[in-house]
Amino acid sequence: RLLGTASAAGAAGLVVGGAGGAYGYSAAQDAPPTPLTTVGSTAVPFHGTHQAGITTPAQAHGHLLAFDLAPGAGRKQAAALLRRWSDTARRLMAGEVPPGAPGDTGIALDAGPASLTVTFGFGRTFFARTGLTARLPRELAPLPDFSSDALDKKRSNGDLWIQIGANDSLVAFHALRALQREVAKTARLRWQMTGFNRSPGTTRHPMTVRNLMGQVDGTNNPAPGEKDFDKRIFVPASGTPSWMAGGSYAVLRRIRMLLDDWDEHSLADQEKVVGRRKSDGAPLSGGSEHTDPNLDKRGKDGSLLIAADAHVRVTAPESNGGAAMLRRPFSFHDGFRDDGAPDAGLLFIAWQADPLRGFVPVQRKLDRGDALSRFLRHEASALFAVPGGPDKGEYVGQRLLE
Ligand code: HEM
Repeated sequence: RLLGTASAAGAAGLVVGGAGGAYGYSAAQDAPPTPLTTVGSTAVPFHGTHQAGITTPAQAHGHLLAFDLAPGAGRKQAAALLRRWSDTARRLMAGEVPPGAPGDTGIALDAGPASLTVTFGFGRTFFARTGLTARLPRELAPLPDFSSDALDKKRSNGDLWIQIGANDSLVAFHALRALQREVAKTARLRWQMTGFNRSPGTTRHPMTVRNLMGQVDGTNNPAPGEKDFDKRIFVPASGTPSWMAGGSYAVLRRIRMLLDDWDEHSLADQEKVVGRRKSDGAPLSGGSEHTDPNLDKRGKDGSLLIAADAHVRVTAPESNGGAAMLRRPFSFHDGFRDDGAPDAGLLFIAWQADPLRGFVPVQRKLDRGDALSRFLRHEASALFAVPGGPDKGEYVGQRLLE
């Protein structure tokens, strides 16, 4: 019954003993409101040196959308769109949308901001369409082809990109609809992807998220506050082009996992593929999740404890001339393919100050064949310049567009 569901979901006290009619709605409305938990009430600032949604802890729900400018739309129309989008993103992230605001879909009427973040980026093709090629960053050079790519061009790249994240699926979808409706005739949707992570509050010990292969994924990410973090992830204040100060470059890959194949392998095999334990993410060279992997350590039989082709060895910064990136992915599941296999995997998103010192060298190495790549298919790819966060009164991308 609805009553049971409501209290099980932590909304105890919402519905009083059936007095409010068949569904208890009117009683619920009369009762004093239940305070939001931090899941619902947390708001992430829109303004700042960097856009939100990069170092923000990964939310449970995500939408990625790419748009192409419509024929005839240029710099002026793009600037107006970014102004509208920024204003809406700011209000939604602050939870400021008044209930019943005209034109609002009402999808998230009774919810708090739930850590909503909206992040905007520009693709390489945007610059020619808006006559801004003089401001095109060198870092937006097309990613090289990789031998294992099986990319769907229609689901790759795009002029404009939006990343939405929230800890409530209705809040995330509400933001998606509000932003999509504001596009009006300025642009057309090119592709859209939906992803998810674990919901806050579902594990006893908050830990790094797991992906759909069951691995703890994100352990050895660079962390804010660490030496070199800003240098690796963000364009410096004095960086070029100047409109990218405080910005970052996002590489997106839709990576399907061959889960039927993966799930047939033993736990020991699966752990060898990555070089970490599945249960807690500890490196196979010993210790716990956050112990540094010892890539030289050998077992009693003389073999390397972290195999020569283990994913963590091949991707480690020390194997790649220091190349580092911040991985902040969402998992995805888009149903099943014709052969019955799940169409599921990782919406891999890597953030870095320069893709040539982050994603590219590492993917080149993976492309030569690490143990994990046998279970993966790269199906879509995109690269976006994500400018720094706006100052108060400014819209995202204003320093580029004005
Ligand atoms: C580490 C999974 C794709 C770069 C890891 C770890 C796992 C993992 C479980 C170990 C824990 C951690 O430190 O996060 C996956 C899966 C992928 C994937 C399931 C695809 C579906 C990629 C790609 C790249 C990449 C495409 C970059 C081109 C890295 C890096 C590390 C890492 C840099 C950290 C290495 C270190 O410093 O120890 N990945 N990965 N991964 N992965 Fe991946």
